Amino acid sequence: MSRRRSSTCGHGSLPDRSTTPNEPLLARHLKLHDLFDGGAGHDLVTGRRLVLGNADVRISYVVAAETSPLYRNAIGDECVFIEDGTGTLETVFGHIPFGPGDYLIVPRATTHRWVTDGTVRAYGIEASSHILPPKRYLSRFGQLLEHAPYCERDLRGPSEPEIRDETDVEVHILHRGSGPGGVSGTVHVVPQHPFDVIGWDGCLYPYAFNVADFEPITGRVHQPPPVHQVFEGSNFVICNFVPRKVDYHPLAIPVPYFHSNVDSDEVMFYVAGNYEARKGSGIGPGSISLHPGGHSHGPHPSAIEASLGIEAVDELAVMVDTFRPLELGEAGTASDDGKYAWSWNQ
Ligand SMILES: [Fe+2]
Repeated sequence: MSRRRSSTCGHGSLPDRSTTPNEPLLARHLKLHDLFDGGAGHDLVTGRRLVLGNADVRISYVVAAETSPLYRNAIGDECVFIEDGTGTLETVFGHIPFGPGDYLIVPRATTHRWVTDGTVRAYGIEASSHILPPKRYLSRFGQLLEHAPYCERDLRGPSEPEIRDETDVEVHILHRGSGPGGVSGTVHVVPQHPFDVIGWDGCLYPYAFNVADFEPITGRVHQPPPVHQVFEGSNFVICNFVPRKVDYHPLAIPVPYFHSNVDSDEVMFYVAGNYEARKGSGIGPGSISLHPGGHSHGPHPSAIEASLGIEAVDELAVMVDTFRPLELGEAGTASDDGKYAWSWNQ
Protein backbone atom coordinates (compact mmCIF):
# COMPACT_ATOMS: atom_id res chain seq x y z
CA MET A 1 0.00 0.00 0.00
CA SER A 2 1.19 3.50 -0.65
CA ARG A 3 0.26 6.69 1.01
CA ARG A 4 -0.66 9.38 -1.48
CA ARG A 5 0.58 12.90 -0.91
CA SER A 6 -0.86 14.64 -3.92
CA SER A 7 -0.77 18.05 -2.33
CA THR A 8 3.00 18.22 -2.86
CA CYS A 9 2.83 17.64 -6.59
CA GLY A 10 -0.12 18.82 -8.59
CA HIS A 11 0.58 19.48 -12.25
CA GLY A 12 1.68 22.99 -11.27
CA SER A 13 5.01 21.57 -10.09
CA LEU A 14 5.81 19.85 -13.40
CA PRO A 15 8.10 21.62 -15.83
CA ASP A 16 6.09 23.77 -18.27
CA ARG A 17 4.48 21.31 -20.69
CA SER A 18 2.33 23.77 -22.60
CA THR A 19 2.79 24.00 -26.38
CA THR A 20 1.99 26.50 -29.12
CA PRO A 21 1.28 25.60 -32.77
CA ASN A 22 4.02 26.05 -35.38
CA GLU A 23 2.05 28.80 -37.11
CA PRO A 24 2.67 30.33 -39.52
CA LEU A 25 4.30 27.12 -40.73
CA LEU A 26 8.07 27.59 -40.56
CA ALA A 27 11.23 25.55 -40.68
CA ARG A 28 13.15 26.35 -37.54
CA HIS A 29 16.64 26.17 -36.06
CA LEU A 30 16.54 25.65 -32.29
CA LYS A 31 19.81 26.17 -30.42
CA LEU A 32 19.55 23.82 -27.47
CA HIS A 33 22.94 24.70 -26.01
CA ASP A 34 21.59 28.18 -25.28
CA LEU A 35 18.95 26.77 -22.92
CA PHE A 36 21.17 25.92 -19.93
CA ASP A 37 24.03 27.65 -18.20
CA GLY A 38 25.59 24.49 -16.76
CA GLY A 39 23.95 21.64 -14.91
CA ALA A 40 23.98 22.93 -11.33
CA GLY A 41 20.56 22.81 -9.75
CA HIS A 42 19.09 20.58 -12.46
CA ASP A 43 18.41 16.85 -12.63
CA LEU A 44 17.56 14.63 -15.58
CA VAL A 45 13.85 14.46 -14.73
CA THR A 46 12.60 17.69 -13.21
CA GLY A 47 15.13 19.79 -15.16
CA ARG A 48 13.80 18.78 -18.59
CA ARG A 49 12.61 21.64 -20.76
CA LEU A 50 10.02 20.84 -23.41
CA VAL A 51 11.25 21.66 -26.91
CA LEU A 52 8.62 20.10 -29.18
CA GLY A 53 5.63 17.90 -28.60
CA ASN A 54 2.28 16.49 -29.64
CA ALA A 55 -0.06 13.86 -28.25
CA ASP A 56 2.24 11.04 -29.39
CA VAL A 57 5.69 12.21 -28.33
CA ARG A 58 7.43 14.98 -26.38
CA ILE A 59 11.04 16.03 -27.03
CA SER A 60 12.93 17.71 -24.22
CA TYR A 61 16.46 18.82 -23.42
CA VAL A 62 18.30 19.02 -20.13
CA VAL A 63 21.76 19.73 -18.78
CA ALA A 64 21.96 18.21 -15.31
CA ALA A 65 24.48 17.68 -12.55
CA GLU A 66 22.17 16.56 -9.72
CA THR A 67 20.65 13.19 -8.85
CA SER A 68 17.01 13.00 -9.96
CA PRO A 69 14.17 12.00 -7.68
CA LEU A 70 12.76 8.51 -8.07
CA TYR A 71 10.51 8.77 -11.10
CA ARG A 72 7.95 6.71 -12.96
CA ASN A 73 6.44 7.73 -16.28
CA ALA A 74 3.03 6.06 -16.41
CA ILE A 75 2.17 7.54 -19.83
CA GLY A 76 4.65 5.79 -22.11
CA ASP A 77 8.18 4.58 -22.74
CA GLU A 78 11.07 7.02 -22.66
CA CYS A 79 14.13 7.05 -24.87
CA VAL A 80 16.80 9.27 -23.36
CA PHE A 81 19.80 9.98 -25.59
CA ILE A 82 22.99 10.98 -23.79
CA GLU A 83 24.66 13.75 -25.75
CA ASP A 84 27.50 14.02 -23.25
CA GLY A 85 28.50 12.91 -19.75
CA THR A 86 28.36 9.72 -17.72
CA GLY A 87 26.35 8.32 -14.85
CA THR A 88 24.06 5.49 -13.81
CA LEU A 89 20.43 4.81 -14.57
CA GLU A 90 19.19 3.13 -11.39
CA THR A 91 15.98 1.14 -11.80
CA VAL A 92 13.83 -1.35 -9.95
CA PHE A 93 15.24 -3.96 -12.38
CA GLY A 94 18.87 -3.07 -11.63
CA HIS A 95 21.36 -0.47 -12.76
CA ILE A 96 22.77 0.53 -16.15
CA PRO A 97 25.91 2.68 -16.38
CA PHE A 98 25.66 5.15 -19.27
CA GLY A 99 27.90 7.39 -21.35
CA PRO A 100 27.96 9.56 -24.46
CA GLY A 101 25.97 8.20 -27.39
CA ASP A 102 23.80 5.88 -25.30
CA TYR A 103 20.10 5.55 -25.89
CA LEU A 104 18.45 4.48 -22.62
CA ILE A 105 15.07 2.86 -23.20
CA VAL A 106 12.97 3.07 -20.05
CA PRO A 107 9.66 1.21 -20.34
CA ARG A 108 6.44 2.78 -19.11
CA ALA A 109 5.99 2.68 -15.32
CA THR A 110 9.58 1.62 -14.58
CA THR A 111 10.57 3.24 -11.29
CA HIS A 112 14.02 4.74 -11.74
CA ARG A 113 16.34 7.62 -11.01
CA TRP A 114 19.29 9.21 -12.76
CA VAL A 115 22.63 9.58 -10.98
CA THR A 116 25.18 11.73 -12.80
CA ASP A 117 28.97 11.83 -12.56
CA GLY A 118 29.33 15.57 -13.07
CA THR A 119 27.39 17.24 -15.86
CA VAL A 120 25.22 15.27 -18.30
CA ARG A 121 23.54 16.59 -21.44
CA ALA A 122 20.48 14.59 -22.47
CA TYR A 123 17.85 14.64 -25.20
CA GLY A 124 14.58 13.15 -24.00
CA ILE A 125 12.05 11.45 -26.25
CA GLU A 126 8.92 10.63 -24.24
CA ALA A 127 6.31 8.52 -26.01
CA SER A 128 2.66 7.99 -25.22
CA SER A 129 3.23 4.43 -26.45
CA HIS A 130 5.98 1.83 -26.30
CA ILE A 131 9.32 2.39 -28.04
CA LEU A 132 10.56 -0.71 -29.89
CA PRO A 133 12.98 -1.81 -32.61
CA PRO A 134 11.48 -1.40 -36.10
CA LYS A 135 9.05 -4.23 -36.81
CA ARG A 136 10.67 -5.05 -40.16
CA TYR A 137 13.92 -5.96 -38.39
CA LEU A 138 12.25 -8.54 -36.14
CA SER A 139 11.55 -12.18 -36.94
CA ARG A 140 8.13 -13.61 -36.19
CA PHE A 141 9.73 -14.83 -32.96
CA GLY A 142 10.77 -11.31 -31.99
CA GLN A 143 14.50 -11.71 -32.64
CA LEU A 144 16.49 -9.08 -34.52
CA LEU A 145 17.12 -10.34 -38.05
CA GLU A 146 20.50 -10.50 -39.76
CA HIS A 147 19.89 -7.42 -41.94
CA ALA A 148 19.09 -5.27 -38.89
CA PRO A 149 21.68 -2.55 -38.18
CA TYR A 150 22.08 -3.83 -34.64
CA CYS A 151 21.39 -7.00 -32.71
CA GLU A 152 20.76 -8.32 -29.22
CA ARG A 153 24.50 -8.41 -28.49
CA ASP A 154 24.52 -4.60 -28.73
CA LEU A 155 21.87 -4.12 -26.02
CA ARG A 156 22.99 -3.66 -22.42
CA GLY A 157 20.49 -4.76 -19.81
CA PRO A 158 20.44 -3.93 -16.12
CA SER A 159 22.72 -5.54 -13.59
CA GLU A 160 21.13 -7.45 -10.74
CA PRO A 161 18.82 -5.49 -8.44
CA GLU A 162 20.08 -4.24 -5.14
CA ILE A 163 18.37 -4.36 -1.79
CA ARG A 164 17.52 -1.06 -0.17
CA ASP A 165 15.74 -0.88 3.16
CA GLU A 166 14.90 2.81 3.27
CA THR A 167 11.38 3.74 4.32
CA ASP A 168 8.92 6.51 3.40
CA VAL A 169 10.45 7.14 -0.01
CA GLU A 170 9.10 9.66 -2.51
CA VAL A 171 8.30 8.53 -6.06
CA HIS A 172 7.40 11.18 -8.63
CA ILE A 173 4.79 9.89 -11.06
CA LEU A 174 3.94 11.38 -14.44
CA HIS A 175 0.47 10.23 -15.42
CA ARG A 176 -2.57 10.96 -17.52
CA GLY A 177 -4.55 13.80 -16.01
CA SER A 178 -5.95 17.27 -16.35
CA GLY A 179 -2.75 19.30 -16.86
CA PRO A 180 -1.42 20.71 -20.17
CA GLY A 181 -1.32 17.96 -22.78
CA GLY A 182 -3.48 15.75 -20.58
CA VAL A 183 -0.58 15.16 -18.19
CA SER A 184 -0.39 15.53 -14.42
CA GLY A 185 2.12 14.76 -11.70
CA THR A 186 1.72 13.17 -8.31
CA VAL A 187 4.19 12.27 -5.58
CA HIS A 188 3.61 9.00 -3.76
CA VAL A 189 5.37 8.34 -0.49
CA VAL A 190 5.86 4.59 -0.39
CA PRO A 191 6.61 2.80 2.88
CA GLN A 192 9.47 0.66 1.41
CA HIS A 193 12.14 1.71 -1.06
CA PRO A 194 10.89 0.54 -4.50
CA PHE A 195 14.30 -1.00 -5.29
CA ASP A 196 13.87 -3.42 -2.38
CA VAL A 197 13.50 -6.49 -4.64
CA ILE A 198 15.52 -9.68 -4.83
CA GLY A 199 14.69 -10.51 -8.44
CA TRP A 200 12.25 -10.17 -11.28
CA ASP A 201 10.87 -12.18 -14.15
CA GLY A 202 9.45 -11.33 -17.55
CA CYS A 203 10.48 -9.69 -20.80
CA LEU A 204 10.11 -6.01 -19.96
CA TYR A 205 13.17 -4.16 -18.67
CA PRO A 206 15.21 -1.06 -19.45
CA TYR A 207 18.24 -1.32 -21.69
CA ALA A 208 20.95 0.77 -23.30
CA PHE A 209 22.09 0.85 -26.89
CA ASN A 210 25.03 2.97 -28.01
CA VAL A 211 24.73 4.79 -31.31
CA ALA A 212 28.34 3.79 -32.15
CA ASP A 213 27.07 0.19 -32.39
CA PHE A 214 24.62 1.10 -35.17
CA GLU A 215 25.96 -0.39 -38.41
CA PRO A 216 25.12 2.11 -41.16
CA ILE A 217 23.46 0.82 -44.32
CA THR A 218 25.10 2.46 -47.33
CA GLY A 219 24.85 2.13 -51.09
CA ARG A 220 26.04 3.26 -54.51
CA VAL A 221 23.24 5.84 -54.62
CA HIS A 222 21.33 7.74 -51.96
CA GLN A 223 19.66 5.47 -49.43
CA PRO A 224 16.14 6.36 -48.24
CA PRO A 225 15.62 7.66 -44.67
CA PRO A 226 14.28 4.34 -43.24
CA VAL A 227 17.82 2.85 -43.42
CA HIS A 228 18.70 5.19 -40.55
CA GLN A 229 15.84 4.04 -38.34
CA VAL A 230 16.74 2.67 -34.90
CA PHE A 231 13.43 2.64 -32.96
CA GLU A 232 9.75 3.32 -33.46
CA GLY A 233 6.77 4.34 -31.36
CA SER A 234 3.15 4.95 -32.21
CA ASN A 235 3.03 7.72 -34.85
CA PHE A 236 6.76 8.46 -34.80
CA VAL A 237 10.14 6.94 -35.60
CA ILE A 238 13.65 7.53 -34.23
CA CYS A 239 16.55 7.47 -36.69
CA ASN A 240 20.25 8.20 -36.42
CA PHE A 241 22.74 9.51 -38.92
CA VAL A 242 26.12 8.04 -38.02
CA PRO A 243 29.64 8.39 -39.43
CA ARG A 244 29.64 6.35 -42.63
CA LYS A 245 30.88 5.86 -46.14
CA VAL A 246 28.76 7.92 -48.52
CA ASP A 247 27.19 7.01 -51.87
CA TYR A 248 29.93 5.53 -54.02
CA HIS A 249 28.54 5.60 -57.57
CA PRO A 250 31.03 7.69 -59.60
CA LEU A 251 28.30 10.23 -60.40
CA ALA A 252 26.65 10.20 -56.96
CA ILE A 253 25.92 13.46 -55.15
CA PRO A 254 26.50 12.48 -51.51
CA VAL A 255 24.17 15.02 -49.86
CA PRO A 256 20.41 14.35 -50.00
CA TYR A 257 18.33 15.81 -52.81
CA PHE A 258 15.53 18.31 -52.19
CA HIS A 259 12.47 16.66 -50.74
CA SER A 260 9.10 17.34 -49.16
CA ASN A 261 8.06 15.70 -45.95
CA VAL A 262 4.89 14.10 -47.17
CA ASP A 263 4.03 12.14 -44.05
CA SER A 264 5.86 13.72 -41.17
CA ASP A 265 7.49 16.57 -39.30
CA GLU A 266 11.27 15.99 -39.25
CA VAL A 267 13.34 16.89 -36.18
CA MET A 268 17.11 16.53 -36.47
CA PHE A 269 19.28 16.89 -33.37
CA TYR A 270 22.91 17.44 -34.37
CA VAL A 271 25.27 15.79 -31.91
CA ALA A 272 28.75 15.82 -33.45
CA GLY A 273 30.73 16.15 -36.66
CA ASN A 274 29.91 18.28 -39.67
CA TYR A 275 26.51 17.78 -41.21
CA GLU A 276 27.35 18.22 -44.91
CA ALA A 277 23.85 19.13 -46.17
CA ARG A 278 23.45 22.01 -43.70
CA LYS A 279 26.79 23.70 -44.48
CA GLY A 280 26.53 27.47 -44.14
CA SER A 281 23.18 27.44 -42.31
CA GLY A 282 24.57 28.07 -38.83
CA ILE A 283 23.58 24.59 -37.70
CA GLY A 284 26.13 22.73 -35.59
CA PRO A 285 26.35 20.44 -32.55
CA GLY A 286 23.51 21.20 -30.14
CA SER A 287 21.20 22.43 -32.90
CA ILE A 288 17.79 21.13 -33.87
CA SER A 289 16.40 21.65 -37.34
CA LEU A 290 12.64 21.34 -37.61
CA HIS A 291 11.45 20.70 -41.15
CA PRO A 292 7.69 20.41 -40.82
CA GLY A 293 5.37 18.55 -43.15
CA GLY A 294 4.51 20.86 -46.06
CA HIS A 295 8.01 22.39 -46.14
CA SER A 296 10.36 21.44 -48.99
CA HIS A 297 14.03 21.42 -48.13
CA GLY A 298 17.39 20.24 -49.35
CA PRO A 299 21.09 21.01 -49.16
CA HIS A 300 22.10 24.55 -48.37
CA PRO A 301 23.77 26.58 -51.15
CA SER A 302 27.28 25.29 -51.92
CA ALA A 303 26.70 22.08 -49.92
CA ILE A 304 26.15 20.05 -53.10
CA GLU A 305 29.43 21.22 -54.67
CA ALA A 306 31.29 20.80 -51.38
CA SER A 307 30.11 17.21 -51.07
CA LEU A 308 31.29 16.05 -54.52
CA GLY A 309 34.09 13.55 -54.25
CA ILE A 310 33.95 12.99 -50.50
CA GLU A 311 34.10 9.36 -49.45
CA ALA A 312 32.78 9.52 -45.89
CA VAL A 313 31.02 11.81 -43.42
CA ASP A 314 31.66 12.17 -39.70
CA GLU A 315 28.17 13.45 -38.82
CA LEU A 316 26.24 12.19 -35.82
CA ALA A 317 22.59 13.20 -35.50
CA VAL A 318 19.40 11.82 -33.98
CA MET A 319 16.19 12.29 -35.94
CA VAL A 320 12.59 12.01 -34.79
CA ASP A 321 9.95 11.97 -37.52
CA THR A 322 6.40 12.44 -36.25
CA PHE A 323 3.35 11.57 -38.28
CA ARG A 324 1.25 14.23 -36.62
CA PRO A 325 2.31 17.88 -36.39
CA LEU A 326 4.58 19.03 -33.61
CA GLU A 327 3.96 22.11 -31.54
CA LEU A 328 6.64 24.23 -29.86
CA GLY A 329 7.30 23.85 -26.15
CA GLU A 330 8.59 26.75 -24.10
CA ALA A 331 12.20 25.67 -24.76
CA GLY A 332 11.50 25.46 -28.49
CA THR A 333 10.29 29.03 -28.53
CA ALA A 334 13.16 30.19 -26.30
CA SER A 335 15.89 28.63 -28.48
CA ASP A 336 14.51 29.50 -31.95
CA ASP A 337 17.06 31.47 -33.99
CA GLY A 338 14.19 33.14 -35.85
CA LYS A 339 15.86 33.15 -39.27
CA TYR A 340 16.47 29.55 -40.34
CA ALA A 341 13.57 29.48 -42.81
CA TRP A 342 15.44 32.06 -44.93
CA SER A 343 18.89 30.46 -44.60
CA TRP A 344 18.76 29.02 -48.14
CA ASN A 345 18.82 32.63 -49.50
CA GLN A 346 22.57 33.04 -49.68
FE1 LIG B 1 14.70 16.13 -44.63
